Amino acid sequence: MQRILVTGGAGFIGSHLCERLIAAGHEVVCKDNLFTGRRQNIEHLLGHPRFELHRHDVNEPFVVEVDHIYHLACPASPVHYQRNPVRTIRTCVQGTLHALECAREVGARLFIASTSEVYGDPTVHPQDESYWGHVNPIGDRACYDEGKRCAEALAVSFARQYGVEVRIARIFNTYGPRMHEDDGRVVSNFAVQALRGEPITLYGSGEQTRSFCYVDDLVEAAIRFMALSEDAATDGHAGSRPMNLGNPTEVTIRDIAELVREITGSRSELVFRPLPADDPARRRPDIGRAARLLDWQPRIGLREGLARTIEDFRTRLG
Ligand SMILES: NC(=O)c1ccc[n+]([C@@H]2O[C@H](COP(=O)([O-])OP(=O)(O)OC[C@H]3O[C@@H](n4cnc5c(N)ncnc54)[C@H](O)[C@@H]3O)[C@@H](O)[C@H]2O)c1
Repeated sequence: MQRILVTGGAGFIGSHLCERLIAAGHEVVCKDNLFTGRRQNIEHLLGHPRFELHRHDVNEPFVVEVDHIYHLACPASPVHYQRNPVRTIRTCVQGTLHALECAREVGARLFIASTSEVYGDPTVHPQDESYWGHVNPIGDRACYDEGKRCAEALAVSFARQYGVEVRIARIFNTYGPRMHEDDGRVVSNFAVQALRGEPITLYGSGEQTRSFCYVDDLVEAAIRFMALSEDAATDGHAGSRPMNLGNPTEVTIRDIAELVREITGSRSELVFRPLPADDPARRRPDIGRAARLLDWQPRIGLREGLARTIEDFRTRLG
């Protein structure tokens, strides 16, 4: 049994991770300021003897005696992270600094939830970890993209300078139950619009692609990544090496809209709106490194994952 800190543990991915870690017999401390997270995401864990919730803003320093830290605290969808861009950069940078200082102080291994957004609007396809990215440093998404890039730079610096064991995961689009219904993302938007019988809004032509990973697959990969020995995780490089985690099956936005319509049995029409600035045209992870080192592949296909997600939305929307 390990004692594990999960920052952002009341959020979408974090709550699934907490659940899995508790089920595996670990003791879990969840730190969250409930900015985009919700108590109901972890309600079922609150009375558990091996689970603690600390209401805490990671922009304030913290030290918790733990073996592992999963650092997820950060708003993740454009609607949420663009609401207060300065605060988003602060959370990406200062929050990660505090997580790294805590890991250094107590000798814990640290998982950093980075993102495919560090690749920006990519000029190579698919993206592997050696690609440095194509990010607009002053665009609407910069507070998040550049914030996460800085978080990665901080993490490798702590690894090289202080020997902190870090695992940088570049997470690609993830979906599943407990997504926010108002986060403006493709899956949640389409599911909510279809269930309410409202028109389904597509931005651009709908021919842009994304690769969607079901949350259980992502959590499995994250746990395997943290279990990896330091030698294997760094591949003999000084400091840490990032790892793409996601599902490489690429689908067009239009395909998703059609699938959501089919699963919900909705008759919502598709309507088209202009593409927002800096919206990447294509996104697909090369997960060769994760497959090799973690002996992992996503298992849940889009149809099954969407059906589970839509069922959860249906229950929550009443
Ligand atoms: N969901 C995805 O597709 C995706 C893709 C790439 C990366 N990520 C990363 O994974 C992590 C989790 O994302 P998610 O989709 O679960 O988002 P989420 O918004 O549901 O969860 C983020 C959690 O962090 C908490 N939080 C935010 N700021 C905080 C602060 N200053 N102090 C303490 N807690 C704070 C929120 O309350 C929330 O519970 C994020 O770091 C995100 O950048 C997610």
